[in-house]
Amino acid sequence: MSQRILVFYGSYRSDRMGIRLADFIVAGLRTRGDDAELIDAKAVGLPMLDRMYKEYAPGTAPAAMEALAGKIKSADAFVFVTGEYNWGMQPGLKNLTDHFLEEWFWRPAAIASYSAGRLSGARSNSAWHGTLSEMGMVVISSTLTVGPISQTLDEKGEPTGDAGRSLARAFPRFADDLAWWTEAAKAQRLRKAPPY
Ligand SMILES: Cc1cc2nc3c(=O)[nH]c(=O)nc-3n(C[C@H](O)[C@H](O)[C@H](O)COP(=O)(O)O)c2cc1C
Repeated sequence: MSQRILVFYGSYRSDRMGIRLADFIVAGLRTRGDDAELIDAKAVGLPMLDRMYKEYAPGTAPAAMEALAGKIKSADAFVFVTGEYNWGMQPGLKNLTDHFLEEWFWRPAAIASYSAGRLSGARSNSAWHGTLSEMGMVVISSTLTVGPISQTLDEKGEPTGDAGRSLARAFPRFADDLAWWTEAAKAQRLRKAPPY
């Protein structure tokens, strides 16, 4: 069954590397038949948080925020591609997510982290888990950890070398886990309206 999956990525750096992992995941989900879309925080270009989406009167939110709210509300699942700056989250992606709250509720989310080194952004991966839970998503236990990203994926997001092969082997289980929870959550939303 084709699922609508949004893949979020949030580095604003000119020489950013994580886009390789975001592209790899979007392509992998599409190959499986999902309707996957990259949501690139830099391209969306929301300002630093002032008003959350829900704090705007209906129809008055900035166009990019309004469009993204619609996409989030109608998605079946989310993937967060998370890099790590000084053991923490990338501010561009955190800023984007903080604009929304109820729009995220009652859907599963998966985390795929990366870094320039061998720890693969593990600390940002861990930090995002709690944040996504707080925002009403059910975070699946399967995850992807990619590092060093430059030795794992090339500029087109294609796996390279031993590390790339390892990532390609790990991806189906990650996607299967997300698909199972996505179908389960969708069926439950149809069976019974969310309580709030
Ligand atoms: C400000 C800054 C802080 C960083 N801190 C960490 C870190 O704490 N741990 C780590 O593994 N890599 C760290 N790195 C290296 C990043 O993993 C690497 O630059 C990665 O490519 C960043 O993602 P991006 O290219 O998508 O922006 C840092 C990089 C920057 C620019």
